[in-house]
Amino acid sequence: MTKSFYLTTPIYYVNDAPHIGHAYTTVAGDVLTRWHRQKGESVWFLTGTDEHGQKVMRTAEENKTAPQAWVDRLVQDAWKPNWANLNIANDDFIRTTETRHTQRVQAFLQSLKDSGHIYAGKYEGPYCIGCEEFKLPGDLIDIDGQKCCPIHSKPIELVNENNWFFKLSAFTDQLLDHYRTNPDACQPESARNEVVSFLEGGVSDLSISRSTFDWGIPVPWDTDQVVYVWFDALLNYATAVGLTDAPESAGGKKFASTWPADVHLVGKDILRFHAVIWPAMLMAAGIDVPKKVFAHGWLLVGGEKMSKSKLTGIAPKDITDHFGVDAFRYYFLRAIPFGTDGSFSWEDMSARYTSELANDFGNLASRSAAMIEKYCAGVLPAASHDADLEAALKTAVDKADVAICALDFQGGILAIMDFCKKVNGYVTEKEPWILAKDPANQAVLEGVLYNTAESLRALAVLLHPVMPATCEILWQSLGAQGSLGDLSAQKISDVATWGQLPAGSLVTKSPVLFPRLETSA
Ligand code: MSP
Repeated sequence: MTKSFYLTTPIYYVNDAPHIGHAYTTVAGDVLTRWHRQKGESVWFLTGTDEHGQKVMRTAEENKTAPQAWVDRLVQDAWKPNWANLNIANDDFIRTTETRHTQRVQAFLQSLKDSGHIYAGKYEGPYCIGCEEFKLPGDLIDIDGQKCCPIHSKPIELVNENNWFFKLSAFTDQLLDHYRTNPDACQPESARNEVVSFLEGGVSDLSISRSTFDWGIPVPWDTDQVVYVWFDALLNYATAVGLTDAPESAGGKKFASTWPADVHLVGKDILRFHAVIWPAMLMAAGIDVPKKVFAHGWLLVGGEKMSKSKLTGIAPKDITDHFGVDAFRYYFLRAIPFGTDGSFSWEDMSARYTSELANDFGNLASRSAAMIEKYCAGVLPAASHDADLEAALKTAVDKADVAICALDFQGGILAIMDFCKKVNGYVTEKEPWILAKDPANQAVLEGVLYNTAESLRALAVLLHPVMPATCEILWQSLGAQGSLGDLSAQKISDVATWGQLPAGSLVTKSPVLFPRLETSA
């Protein structure tokens, strides 16, 4: 059985509608999985929603709605349409209120109890409902004399409950050993260093149930308690692919073909849950840990993490309505090194849209099609070669593949856009519009136009994971569908092979790929 490349995003809280911070993670996951699909790999891409816990329950209460009705409505009206608008090609969408999840969480928890990893205890200490996290007194900041969460700047609550505990501390050495021997298991390096020093400081056991509210999965042997929302949520990555199902069942087979996950993509705010608690839960159950947890940086507003609770969240649609979906998908991954914080600005996005997308890429495509229409009656001339262009393409593909597979989206996109610049330089240097003035140059002119179209063929394939709809339009305009088949079926490993567009292909002018922006925002 082939193991799929399995990538997950965090499952997002449905206390509110998505903002561009959530979209940043999911678009990155979509680009990476589309790239792997174009490498010819079998891929499984999971996203979903985290629906239990006090944060969601309280928002539902504030809106005088039952929690289940609240989450149903948000998932249906806000989250799923948002991912559809952003052209996210996830293979599955898990909701933690689904039976497939709740039953498997209970089965997993029971097995940890049976194997002695869970015990009864008392929790007393601060809790941040925004983070849904038990805090240490040293984690808190003082605002107006009140102890507050440093991320949410809101007062913490004091919890004092008899709960069930997971023996997290027992896995400290095993976790340290894991990250020391597998540096790739937590990336970027700054994230791994943070996790290692956190572990070196020692970890306590974790309360994994709550008894003061009931919006959660009942603890199977003590139904007065519900499972702690993070313990419930982290398990989604495995319950969605059949964790705890018998090996011969459909779920068991799915699990065997996906687990361990290749990449858990997360924001740095939730690194410790993923790099400490989650692998320890799996170690306790004797299940392989994920191959990589990658923590990217934050989108900032005024130097702070963009968030709905601080009223700084921008809805993705506010941006896509102005710039289009593909420019949105491109911009954040191109502008911000993945792993570093970055600020969003309309000015920077407008500038890059115009120079990189409309001028460098869009104009190249429209000029090339216009010239083939004008000088060759829209029929692609015979194949030609240019050693420099071919070499530049090969370099671009190699660099982009290495970078994107290492989640260096900026490096990958830059390598591709450098090739695009190179092609623009080629056209400027060869001046086909001058060549066209003398019929004696027809053969040279046709060679230049072929090379340009062939370069665009490669660009359509390479940029397809980032800007699927735009590249599809370009693919149609090059007349490539009939001869080469679906754009999504083109392989990264073949893209640098020159001369794939057959002579005689019908090239047509497409609608403008990146229209002039209405007004500069
Ligand atoms: N429900 C938990 C995750 C459980 S995963 C088992 C959660 N949800 S969340 O809705 O708060 O989403 C957090 C994630 O959204 C971050 O880790 C990050 O991926 C993304 N982002 C939310 N705000 C962000 C920014 N301002 N900037 C970048 N990413 C952000 O935590």
